[in-house]
Amino acid sequence: MKFVYISLSGNTKAFVEKLVDYLAFKHPEVFVETLDVKELVKGGQDYPDLDQPYVAFLPTYLEGGNGVDTGDQEILTGDLRQLIAKGDNASNCLGIVGSGNRNFNNQFCLTAYQYSKQFNFPVLDVYEMRGLTADVERIAEKIYQVYGFEN
Ligand SMILES: Cc1cc2nc3c(=O)[nH]c(=O)nc-3n(C[C@H](O)[C@H](O)[C@H](O)COP(=O)(O)O)c2cc1C
Repeated sequence: MKFVYISLSGNTKAFVEKLVDYLAFKHPEVFVETLDVKELVKGGQDYPDLDQPYVAFLPTYLEGGNGVDTGDQEILTGDLRQLIAKGDNASNCLGIVGSGNRNFNNQFCLTAYQYSKQFNFPVLDVYEMRGLTADVERIAEKIYQVYGFEN
């Protein structure tokens, strides 16, 4: 399976690494590949075609506001949106996992819901910051099911 993520201050990267470790331990038959969009952009590479199913991971960065009538403008994470928007990439996304901070109230994980609406795939789950052990377990098992390993 493939995880595609963007991470500005390292929380999402750390969470994805914990998911990979959990899956390697609990479901060793599963091979997980990761794609760090920030590294891709830094390396000056074009957005690739994602022709296999993948799960996207998106932290929330909004420009001010309250998430209701103002402040739903995404900042810093637009490279992930552009990668998903490229060609048929959106159709291979099984869903998105949003992250953020509940102090942002109505803006908590808002961008993941915006992607879900724009690209028509589900928000699989949301968690705060680096995620707790319970978040890792719940989300890893959910993704395992979404990939069809248990059905
Ligand atoms: C400038 C800024 C704006 C943020 N805006 C939101 C927000 O609107 N909603 C939210 O849930 N979290 C918000 N956060 C919290 C981040 O989504 C959270 O810290 C996340 O874990 C960062 O992931 P990363 O370390 O992978 O970049 C914001 C954080 C920063 C620094």
